[in-house]
Amino acid sequence: MNIIFSLHLYMRSFFLFIIFIGFEAVAQQTDVPSLHHNANFHIGTSVRFVPFSKDTLAQKIQQHHFNSYTAGSDMKMYQITPKPGVYHWSRVDSIVDYAVKNNQRLFGHNLIWHSSTPKWVEKKAKKNPEWLDGFMKEYISTYVGRYKGIVDGWDVVNEGLNTKGQGLRTESIWFKSLGKKYIEKAFIYAHAADPDAILFYNDFNIERDSLKLDSMLEMVYDFLDRGVPISGIGFQMHIRMDIPNEIIARSLKKAADTGLQIHLSEVDIIFNTHDDSKGGGIQLYDHLTKEMKFAQAQKYADLVNMYQDIVPKEQQYGITFWGFNDRDTWIRRFFKMNDWPTIYDDNLLPKPAFFGFLNALKI
Ligand code: XIL
Repeated sequence: MNIIFSLHLYMRSFFLFIIFIGFEAVAQQTDVPSLHHNANFHIGTSVRFVPFSKDTLAQKIQQHHFNSYTAGSDMKMYQITPKPGVYHWSRVDSIVDYAVKNNQRLFGHNLIWHSSTPKWVEKKAKKNPEWLDGFMKEYISTYVGRYKGIVDGWDVVNEGLNTKGQGLRTESIWFKSLGKKYIEKAFIYAHAADPDAILFYNDFNIERDSLKLDSMLEMVYDFLDRGVPISGIGFQMHIRMDIPNEIIARSLKKAADTGLQIHLSEVDIIFNTHDDSKGGGIQLYDHLTKEMKFAQAQKYADLVNMYQDIVPKEQQYGITFWGFNDRDTWIRRFFKMNDWPTIYDDNLLPKPAFFGFLNALKI
């Protein structure tokens, strides 16, 4: 055993010790081992470039732990083409500069999503449904083509399935205008624009809703049979403390059996609950107790263990957090409830959840 390896083991036991004797971690923001240096796969986080680009402490932590960058919303369609014929590239270009400068893989989130389609696109498609196909082709070719070889992978279609249960999201303007073919067309256009990009279908609750998972797998196997260029499945993995590990494990196994890349693309773990809609938070817990912190550390560790044990190495695209600290979490803003879903706390200090995640990583 070499010295570095023993030191590494020593550090791990030390942090485990801190967790289990129940001390608050006193470590400063980056006086802890780097996540990505301790992982065999990419570790990422989503970031909102504004205000992140002015937040030197958040940048320091982000650079310490992550080697993959996902834009929170900066790369969505309503940001890129807010008006007909107008493309706004400057923020994406700044993100590219940041990622390149800091040696981070840039992940593209996302190309086609009902929730980030600009109003003007919806309006036009309602009047002239066939127009949407030409628009989609131009949008994807221009966007993916511009960042060819720079963006490593894309969420090509996000949340194309119904929120719950079987079937596609038929009320989406994309489905309404073009039928179910819009999904495979998006993959075909993206692949033509950058044949080397890893192309994902990304969705939420597929780890817990077996009907939804099966609908997705049916679509994926059909694409594979017909040579539609899909290369990965993204589990958003916005989970809750009470989602059983056995169910998550079974879903990961079924998805990994496709042989595709598996990305845990938007990980966070909440204590409270919500109805999946904006403002739909249901506050069950008002404050975070010590017991809750340690239970969350265990849940993060379980998730890492499942990913490592179930997804074959060559299919591990990586684990990406949807924000790395509770201060900035989207959960509070979006669902209008308080919660503590991430690995760093409101003061940007590592939580037990961080150590749970770190200690479960195997190199
Ligand atoms: C969220 C952003 O984090 C919020 O800031 C925004 O208000 C709404 O979108 N699934 C996704 C992400 O695929 O794009 C969403 O991001 C979170 C749920």
